[in-house]
Amino acid sequence: MDKQRLKQAEQLFSGFSKLNLEQRLQRLLELGALLPEDVHFLKSGCSMDISLAEKFIENVIGYFQMPIGVATNFVIDGKPYAIPMAVEETSIVAAASKTARWVREHGSIRTYSEGSSIIGQIQLANVKDYHKFSEVISAHSDSLMDQANKKVAAGLVARGGGVTGLQVRKVPRGDGDNMAVVHVLLDPCDAMGANIVNQVCEFLKEPIEELTGQKVTMCILSNLVDTKLTCAEVVMNNINPDLALKIKEASLFSLQDPYRAATNNKGVLNGIDPILISTGNDWRAVEAGIHSFAASEGQYKSVTEWTYDGETLKGLFRAPLVVGVVGGVTKLHPMAQMSLQMLGVKSAEELSRVCAAVGLVQNLGALRALTTEGIIEGHMKLHIKNLTLGAGAKEKEAVILQEKLEEILKKTKRISLAQAKEILEEIRRRTFSG
Ligand code: MEV
Repeated sequence: MDKQRLKQAEQLFSGFSKLNLEQRLQRLLELGALLPEDVHFLKSGCSMDISLAEKFIENVIGYFQMPIGVATNFVIDGKPYAIPMAVEETSIVAAASKTARWVREHGSIRTYSEGSSIIGQIQLANVKDYHKFSEVISAHSDSLMDQANKKVAAGLVARGGGVTGLQVRKVPRGDGDNMAVVHVLLDPCDAMGANIVNQVCEFLKEPIEELTGQKVTMCILSNLVDTKLTCAEVVMNNINPDLALKIKEASLFSLQDPYRAATNNKGVLNGIDPILISTGNDWRAVEAGIHSFAASEGQYKSVTEWTYDGETLKGLFRAPLVVGVVGGVTKLHPMAQMSLQMLGVKSAEELSRVCAAVGLVQNLGALRALTTEGIIEGHMKLHIKNLTLGAGAKEKEAVILQEKLEEILKKTKRISLAQAKEILEEIRRRTFSG
């Protein structure tokens, strides 16, 4: 990304949160993140044909709509991104944008991948002579891969992917005997790869049974894709040393204590899931991958780590994050298409790296808030609007109610829906008697 385009993107994003909806759409149009037809679709309420929903799932009765927002200020690997986030939780989009600006002002984000193959599993439930089984598979590994690549994954092979390896694992049954599990490694290119890896495993069932005389029990992909990891690194300088130290301590907490790690990782996923949803990706698969990886050393721990050497604050996200940019919902859902166009990602790998970067930045924002003002203040400030709506305030009442709630929050550091309802009643009583 050259400096001029970066500067232009900065200008286009400056003050984004202060704009009204119309102006936000206009900015995104200027940035080239939205096309005129996207703006038209968004303005018209995003209504979609019910027959499309019937292509996705069964027993359809309609659509469930979620808000979609744009996180700004992200510059990842030198390239500015507008990040689409479909999410219902207050303050996620604001925190992501605010923290991304902080990172941009004090440092940078770099991303990379480790490995490119996903994993399919073939289980043989009760193999008496594991050693012999393993030898037979190893001896025929090339020919099995070759058959799978020719008969099932030819399209992928043509695009530079396909089956890349076979591994045999001995898994104790727990009753003294062992099961054998064959891992099929496959590079899915720009697809998430679930369908194709399942097809390859099922195709290999017959030749494996013939070669070994053993019965295959089941075939399915694994979401613990430790053969294809996505990494994001944040490096920041010239920040308050006390704050940096606190962030480092908060990070240590999430590495050492699984109770804290769970909440820390939930915060990371606050950044990742909304992108997965808006791009039509399988967020359950990514969640399963990240959580299982977080527990893969025996104790559940954070998938992020922050270090500080007295000068530089460094953050790292490293976990499986398998996504696709072709096929399925990604291709058919107009919002998914719009989100991918907004991101301007060229490959599944790039989308995965963007998700990792946003997850890491979201984590930084949470740790910064938790170690300074606490989570309530920022969260509640944004939550006040929800409370006024929840209490049933009309337009004019909402302005007064919001002010009152802000005053209470400042004084007591807490507000509730019950308080909002009480104050609203009071406002109405006064208006009525006055
Ligand atoms: C809330 O949605 C997410 C946080 O709890 C994450 C964290 O504790 O790191 C704030």
